Amino acid sequence: MKTTIKKIGVFTSGGDAPGMNASLRAVVRTACFHNIEVVGIKCGYEGMINGDFRPLEKRDVGNIIQRGGTFLKTARSKEFMTEKGRAKAFKHLKKHKIEALIALGGNGTFTGAEIFHKEFDLPIVGVPCTIDNDLYGTDKTIGFDTAVNTAVEAVDKIRDTAESHNRLFFVEVMGRHAGFIALHTAIASGAGSVILPEKETTIDELVKHYAAVAKSKRMTSLVIVAEGNPLGSADEIAKKVEKRLDVFDVRVTVIGHLQRGGSPSAYDRVLASRLGFSAVNALLEGHQDIMVGVDNDQIKYTPFKYAINNQKDLNLRLIRLAEILAI
Ligand code: F6P
Repeated sequence: MKTTIKKIGVFTSGGDAPGMNASLRAVVRTACFHNIEVVGIKCGYEGMINGDFRPLEKRDVGNIIQRGGTFLKTARSKEFMTEKGRAKAFKHLKKHKIEALIALGGNGTFTGAEIFHKEFDLPIVGVPCTIDNDLYGTDKTIGFDTAVNTAVEAVDKIRDTAESHNRLFFVEVMGRHAGFIALHTAIASGAGSVILPEKETTIDELVKHYAAVAKSKRMTSLVIVAEGNPLGSADEIAKKVEKRLDVFDVRVTVIGHLQRGGSPSAYDRVLASRLGFSAVNALLEGHQDIMVGVDNDQIKYTPFKYAINNQKDLNLRLIRLAEILAI
């Protein structure tokens, strides 16, 4: 180990993700193992600004590995975007003798962390937690697997009623500007089409495709719509398609925040445990402003600036696979 740190702060910020609690558990227990004191900061950067801190011992994180949400609570802080807000936050950290931070969150969280590190020279290590899976530097983010499982379970149920009524369903899933949840949900649920931010789809194409589907006497199908696609919401797309193709009885479901809740999958629990553990080790090795991730099953450190700014590409071969398997 290259550095001795006696006290760290840990917080969750931005949209919650299933597995955040499992990761907090790993951070606290790994730190305790190394005799490092841990302070839990409530409500992300908001709690840092308000000095909402509590000490965390290894038993404080018992019985949480299986729980969704985050027991430290989370927020998207507007005040932390200001210099004054960040100065207030740093004052509280100094007062509590916190020497380094572990930040659990996504793009917005790490953008804040990068600025904060530059301003106050405080070591910060990030743990990628977002259902969107849109962070460069890790194959998967914590929460993505659970969110996809939740979406697939919902789509399976929608399929039952769609089949019974011979309906064409447009199902909208989350993902902000990325189509990872939509593409994986489409493949895993055997959907007819998927509309993504990363690939252009036109209403003409959809109408042509579903006219051919209707001709083949298949009156049930599922279209998975990623919320960040440029064509519009599932509702808007469904209306446009229905207007030009009235043979289908069309319905729309928006899965929404259901995808953010629930007990994390085993995959997310293991990932969260590995990354929480690695975040503490990274700090002890002297790393200052990086995100820990998993690349090809190996732990990898990525500077915040790349994790935030580099584009993580969707696997285009999976789009082709989804199209071919939907024939
Ligand atoms: O980043 C996670 C996410 O769930 C996105 O998929 C979605 O666009 C957004 O957060 C919703 O944010 P909020 O919970 O603030 O409505």
